[in-house]
Amino acid sequence: MRTPFTLLILLFFAPATQAADGMVVTVSPPATDVGVDILQAGGNAVDASVAVGFALAVTWPEAGNIGGGGFMLIHRGGKEKPAFIDYRETAPAAATRDMFAKGVDYQSAKTAGVPGAVRGYGLAHKLYGKLPWKDLVWPAVKLAEEGFPVNAALAGRLNGVLADPKTTNAEFLRIFGKKDRWKAGDVLKQPDLGRTLRLIAEKGPDTFYSGVLADKIVAEMKASGGLVTLADLKGYKAENRTPLRGTYRGYEVIGAPPPSSGGTALITALNILELYDLKKNPWRSAETTHLVAEAMRRAFADRALYLGDPDFTKVPENLLTKDHAKELAKTIDPAKATQSELLAPEIDIAPDKKETTHFSIVDGDGMAVANTTTLENSFGCRVVVRGAGFLLNNELTDFNPKPGVTTRTGPIGTDANLVAPGKRPLSSMTPTILLRDGKLALVTGSPGGRTIINTVLCVVLNFVDYGHGIQAAVDAPRMHHQWFPDRIALEDFPGRAQLDEKLQALGHTVVTHPQGDAHSIAVDPKTGKLVGAADKRLDGKAKGLTALPANRTEQFFKSKP
Ligand code: DON
Repeated sequence: MRTPFTLLILLFFAPATQAADGMVVTVSPPATDVGVDILQAGGNAVDASVAVGFALAVTWPEAGNIGGGGFMLIHRGGKEKPAFIDYRETAPAAATRDMFAKGVDYQSAKTAGVPGAVRGYGLAHKLYGKLPWKDLVWPAVKLAEEGFPVNAALAGRLNGVLADPKTTNAEFLRIFGKKDRWKAGDVLKQPDLGRTLRLIAEKGPDTFYSGVLADKIVAEMKASGGLVTLADLKGYKAENRTPLRGTYRGYEVIGAPPPSSGGTALITALNILELYDLKKNPWRSAETTHLVAEAMRRAFADRALYLGDPDFTKVPENLLTKDHAKELAKTIDPAKATQSELLAPEIDIAPDKKETTHFSIVDGDGMAVANTTTLENSFGCRVVVRGAGFLLNNELTDFNPKPGVTTRTGPIGTDANLVAPGKRPLSSMTPTILLRDGKLALVTGSPGGRTIINTVLCVVLNFVDYGHGIQAAVDAPRMHHQWFPDRIALEDFPGRAQLDEKLQALGHTVVTHPQGDAHSIAVDPKTGKLVGAADKRLDGKAKGLTALPANRTEQFFKSKP
């Protein structure tokens, strides 16, 4: 068993991985290997990301997916503009404003939005990929059909979900169930998913939205009481959006635009914190923790008040300005916690218990991808499409559930993020890229529901303000404040008790919570080398591109299933 102490030791000694010609960092070792294989076969960072996305649907089924959605942020290098592929799920046409007003059943197929992943990867590949589509899907086919050894992290997740009495979907139990417990080294084969991926490889992304697979999804919806129809699937569009741009202490911050709240909240918090000399005090001092919590609190108040799908909600234009940050900073008292209700009264935010996964990839030409993808809860709504082997998301639960009802103890009911047909639920996913003098400096992101934004903020502050190397920036204990509940959540570390006392004296409530899984890459400014940092909070893996035998590429494509 991993105690907090062993975790601390592990984090302390977690080594970074260095390479000159490419780097892949994901939560799942077999998926990392797929990404490196694709780079080695001549693919660029987008090719590798598409292949890793499909591989994760096999090897990290709690969040990697084809039945969910996500965001892919792409730094194209040189003078090319960055790109943002929004493959967030949409609400089906039959969704209604108050469909969750009486409560949410997270394991119901009704919570499934129209999946965006396959169209998203299709669009990314069409616009920015180099290798043939089929070659990017086949490593996932192989993993699904031949199976792969699960690691301790995946075994833990599978045992956890199987032990939960709420996991009742027969197809889920058929595919992931096991007489005894999963343990590291057991092989997971998913032949149904293999067949599905084969179809996607051979017929292209559209088969998911209008072909045999679409029919299977619709049949599952009818059988399980879900809302997604063939028309919803046919009408789904991934969007190529303009990423947000901000600056922080000489770095350019490229962030996720709405329907993510991630980029807006991150840049708002950074704009506020830029007004202070954070370095004056150590990172885990009460002074810094207080200031960072107050910046988070204000960024999250904006998030709740203003952010939603930009095709439905007009997001105020000034949120990202330095002037707005100055106005927000004026309300910060360095000696006292602000009461959240003073920023916008009568609004409460429920805690998150969800799963997602982030990976970072950089190729030898400096193209970089930060990709965060999710089924929302761990294993989504836990409904597997019969005969097709893939899980459906429960992303519609990211909408504000009760229109107009925004109490301190209940969920948010502001208009910006209410359910509407075709609308994308507001996300916190924060794939982020930092540049310095136009050159790549950092690629990061994380799972963790609303904590995602603050995990990324912590990594950026560690990296920029405190000059940590990327591995130390990822390993360092994290903090979170999301406005409501009005409290600071801290990861554990030696000396926490004294910090808690000081924060309490300032008027904060402090709780303990593990936070995020931020697989990241930085560029060493001195050597130009890529430094990959897997987040050891889960058993992630960083692997750099190394020279291999000349026939490697040929071998790779010869062994196609
Ligand atoms: O899009 C979002 O913000 C959420 N659906 C993400 C859920 C999540 O990160 C769960 N991870 N632990």
